[in-house]
Amino acid sequence: MSTEHTSRRTFAIISHPDAGKTTLTEKLLYAGGAIHRAGAVRARGEARRARSDWMKIEQDRGISVTSSVMTFEYRDLTFNLLDTPGHEDFSEDTYRTLTAVDSAVMVIDAAKGIEAQTLKLFEVCRLRDIPIITLVNKTDREGRDPFETLDEIQEALALDVCPMVWPIGMGGLFEGCYDMVNNRFLTAPEKGGAFEDVIDCDGPDDEALDARVNEATLEQAREEMELAQIGYTEFDLDSYREGHLTPVVFGSALKDFGVTQLLDLIADFAPPPRPSPTDERVIEPSEKPVSGFVFKVQANMDANHRDRIAFMRVCSGEFKRGMKLRQVRTGKDLMLHSPIFFLAQDREIADNASPGDIIGIPNHGTVRVGDTFTEGEKLRFTGLPAFAPEILRRVMLKDTSKVKQLRRALEDLAEEGLVQVFRPQSGGNWIVGVIGVLQLEVLVSRARQEYKIGVRIEDLPYSSARWLRAEDPKVLDAFVKQNSFNIVEDSEGLPVYLAKSDWDLDYTERNNEDISFLKTRELQ
Ligand code: G4P
Repeated sequence: MSTEHTSRRTFAIISHPDAGKTTLTEKLLYAGGAIHRAGAVRARGEARRARSDWMKIEQDRGISVTSSVMTFEYRDLTFNLLDTPGHEDFSEDTYRTLTAVDSAVMVIDAAKGIEAQTLKLFEVCRLRDIPIITLVNKTDREGRDPFETLDEIQEALALDVCPMVWPIGMGGLFEGCYDMVNNRFLTAPEKGGAFEDVIDCDGPDDEALDARVNEATLEQAREEMELAQIGYTEFDLDSYREGHLTPVVFGSALKDFGVTQLLDLIADFAPPPRPSPTDERVIEPSEKPVSGFVFKVQANMDANHRDRIAFMRVCSGEFKRGMKLRQVRTGKDLMLHSPIFFLAQDREIADNASPGDIIGIPNHGTVRVGDTFTEGEKLRFTGLPAFAPEILRRVMLKDTSKVKQLRRALEDLAEEGLVQVFRPQSGGNWIVGVIGVLQLEVLVSRARQEYKIGVRIEDLPYSSARWLRAEDPKVLDAFVKQNSFNIVEDSEGLPVYLAKSDWDLDYTERNNEDISFLKTRELQ
């Protein structure tokens, strides 16, 4: 039985735009000595590590696909950082990526607290009990009182908080951070500089601090730390792993404060690959046969060839290049002779992937988001959701003779997870649902470039969609008939109710108590 998987930490960073996710990502990669990414992919130092095939594809084709999976080593562990697209292409992809991680780091701006997108992403983590470590970032700038932020996390997210690294001053007064777990003062050689020195202390009252920190700032920080240590929950591993408690690090990604502390927390406490639920049984990562599921499909690698990369998280077994795996949905075997590995560091392990790792499967549209791969066992990984779209629009063809091409384009893009496609019961034009408006722009541009069709997006009077479910099929049928103008079918043929307002939805729900109006559904 392999124990490789216990050395994996597969995680994502969740945050609101501008909180510092990119900065933190770079610092983590840097700390792990991995390829450095800052807009363009570039290797750090001499090519200490061979670049992955994936990067080569990017470079050869001259396109800048942001790395979706970034792998680096730290303290004998392999970290897989899965990128959750930020504000620019926020979509279901973001949510689904969270189904492929075992833990998350939540980045909050010290001045702004919890913002809308953090909250949304947090809710997804909560659905899956994903444990979260929090970085309150930008303490080198003027921020809110640390207690205010801690109380907000506690109240808004219903999480116990356990502060572990505390800021000594903030903004203009910022002098570093104090690691309350290891009793270390993290400081810079000069005020306003980046983190460089670690001073071991006996506790926050250690005299070593007096010599380094302004008296008033230190006095306040000492008081705060005392209050923080008695005012909040003690760290409890089970509570963290069950998603009830979050360790909190105050720091500055830009100035390197708190970055290694975060990495240490992930290394020490974040769970290794967890067992994965399926419709048949729970799969343990230590099982020998290889299994995995696809949580993301990325197209547009090459617009002329319409090739795609499916991202599969390995859930069990030791995957080897050239292996044959069965795509359970179709029952077809797929020979994976050229999978893309994200383990870039050396040739030997680049041919294998362990549970918790991600491999890229090149394909021409045969692999879908939600697909399960096994060595033959018939099962389906569950928990991969489709979310009720928040934006619904009608898609109109500029040239009405291109109906077939439009159907193909919408089917393809829906399988990739870019948009959800609905067909009105009453016939008529396709309706697409998205989570963010940018997806609509991508739809129009890809329809033009890849499918050579012009489409126009028109507003609709609907503001939300809900999947319908009822114990009694007759009840559902009757509802669907009565409300046929507001009912559409999704790509699986499931009925979906479109509501014109929150009031409308609420009213309809209250008048149809035998029917569930669902915000999410499992991908089949
Ligand atoms: P995002 O990916 O979450 O959207 O955030 P990103 O890392 O791009 O950071 C957003 C802005 O916040 C950037 O500034 C970045 O430099 C800054 N930032 C990130 N972490 C810290 C921190 O710890 N302290 C301070 N003071 N600033 C931080 P920008 O002006 O938008 O970009 P740039 O000109 O600095 O590149």
